[in-house]
Amino acid sequence: MDGMPHDIPAPDTPNPLRALSLERLRRRTSMKWRTYPEDVLPLWVAEMDVPLAEPVVRAVREAMELGDTGYPAGTAYAEALAAFAAERWAWEGLAVERTAIVPDVMMGIVEMLKLVSGPGDPVVVNSPVYPPFFPFVENMGRKVVEAPLGADGRLDLGVLEDTFGRLSAGAGRPAYLLCSPQNPTGAVHTADELAAVAALARTYGIRVVVDEIHAPLTAPGANFVPYLSVPGAENGLSLLSASKAWNLAGLKAAVAVAGPEAADDLARLPEEVGHGPSHVGVLAHTAALLEGGAWLDALLRGLDDNRRLLAGLLAEHLPAVRYTPGQATYLAWLDCRALGLGGDPAEVFLERGRVALNSGIPFGTGGEGFVRLNLATSPELITEAVRRMASALG
Ligand SMILES: Cc1ncc(COP(=O)(O)O)c(C=O)c1O
Repeated sequence: MDGMPHDIPAPDTPNPLRALSLERLRRRTSMKWRTYPEDVLPLWVAEMDVPLAEPVVRAVREAMELGDTGYPAGTAYAEALAAFAAERWAWEGLAVERTAIVPDVMMGIVEMLKLVSGPGDPVVVNSPVYPPFFPFVENMGRKVVEAPLGADGRLDLGVLEDTFGRLSAGAGRPAYLLCSPQNPTGAVHTADELAAVAALARTYGIRVVVDEIHAPLTAPGANFVPYLSVPGAENGLSLLSASKAWNLAGLKAAVAVAGPEAADDLARLPEEVGHGPSHVGVLAHTAALLEGGAWLDALLRGLDDNRRLLAGLLAEHLPAVRYTPGQATYLAWLDCRALGLGGDPAEVFLERGRVALNSGIPFGTGGEGFVRLNLATSPELITEAVRRMASALG
């Protein structure tokens, strides 16, 4: 931790995305920085190029100094989340007694799906969507069924209803895994859309599990609505975490939340699942939610600047690429189909431009010809990434 205090933004330090040099970032040993050779600029996996929020560093440092590195206990994380939800989303309905800590959001999704569906049952997802949804659902012995988003990157309620109708006529207990906000398009589902989803799920007897990991990353001007806050969603289950918004993926911890009618389901969660989260992770996530608000606001402002910067750079250097800035997440979903680079433009950008973006293909139907670019970096590196992308066409 030597030198750390110099890198931690004080609450009044405006933009954590401008704090770290490329040289310093290349010293990181995580997936983003170690998957590709040194000459590749990595703007792919959802890790952020930021120093941690000071309250998070303090919480972890205090735990190290105290040797407080045992097993997790208590409900502090859920309480912090409830306070954050009340303050940021005006949602008072996150009841701590209907929560459980889980190792991370993906393991939480698996555990929630186990509670509401059986082996071989279908799980509906809205492609294009976060790629691990597919293997996680398949590895737990469920069957992924796609209900693709509309061309506008938003939920298509007609397609969802057709899919639900078809599945409810079959055997088993179908479930629906909703991504809210949506990764990769950044769509923030409206209260009306979510109420319509809840009504359809009731009509067709489909249980809803919702991944709300990107919720704190909603852009200024957009309004995140927790799924469990809409009428009809009382039997839903949600997963929340500080991991995306404060860059804590390596400090494993997340919270599962049940609506009032799902409390009995959550009560069936095996106790051992709660042994999986890291106690230090729980401390870090709790500190982020309770004391990391100013840092988050600075980040959100920086991300908004980056969305505008990217739109301008693309218009100038790659005008054939279509980009609609998302209402949430730090991910940009770029339609590269007009570039004539085939189904997987990310491969061309990597080989010829030495810039690593996510290929759209693993996101499912609707991903071909698209790439996903991670905006959680400095304006300089975004500028360099677009320069490299443009050079790949030459
Ligand atoms: C929609 C979504 N869900 C889950 C995750 C992973 O969360 P965790 O590391 O807590 O499993 C990500 C990571 O980018 C994500 O974008």
